Amino acid sequence: MRALIPATDADVPQIVALMNRAYRGSATSLAWTTEHGYITGDRTTEAFLREDMAASPKASLMLWRDTEDGGLKGCVWLQPLGEGLWYLGSLAVDPDRQNGGLGRALLGAAELGIAAQGGRRVRMTVVNVRTGLIAWYERRGYRATGETNPFPYGDNRFGVPQRDDLCFVVLEKELPA
Ligand SMILES: CC(C)(COP(=O)(O)OP(=O)(O)OC[C@H]1O[C@@H](n2cnc3c(N)ncnc32)[C@H](O)[C@@H]1OP(=O)(O)O)[C@@H](O)C(=O)NCCC(=O)NCCS
Repeated sequence: MRALIPATDADVPQIVALMNRAYRGSATSLAWTTEHGYITGDRTTEAFLREDMAASPKASLMLWRDTEDGGLKGCVWLQPLGEGLWYLGSLAVDPDRQNGGLGRALLGAAELGIAAQGGRRVRMTVVNVRTGLIAWYERRGYRATGETNPFPYGDNRFGVPQRDDLCFVVLEKELPA
């Protein structure tokens, strides 16, 4: 697999378009997991993404393109939290490319990148009702820690929730030494 490339400000419009299509688009024969039906509206905007990038200077948003100047097909946010623990978020694959192994490859490449920088443990959060997605992460070695984080009801920055029972399940994986 070619390397994941760190995003620059010029990539922001394409990243936002990819994330909104991947997270909030309807399921299709390829796009097998989405938040459509649980949360409406955009997952992010150019302004919010730029704000997140500026607020977390140690984080990198890593991008995947099939060719150096080709369209954006995937992204993943990696952020060191200290003491070997990293946060992995915003993993997204172009809906037209899902269910073909790209998500698994991006996750594996992200974990290798974290390990190469001394990371030993990866943490992520997944919306509790996305059981198919949680099972996908469990097949990649992630386990629920038992912690949950509240869903930001009332703050529609991440979209508008359509149910009142959402929260984030915390998953973690120990990376091989
Ligand atoms: C999650 C995501 C990154 C996975 O990418 P992908 O390229 O589709 O993943 P892969 O092709 O590697 O894996 C597809 C998996 O879906 C499984 N799958 C296919 N259809 C399915 C269905 N209807 N229900 C459950 N699982 C299904 C396949 O069996 C395969 O799992 P396996 O490799 O363990 O057998 C991608 O679906 C995505 O961008 N989703 C929207 C954004 C999102 O929710 N990101 C995660 C936030 S925490």
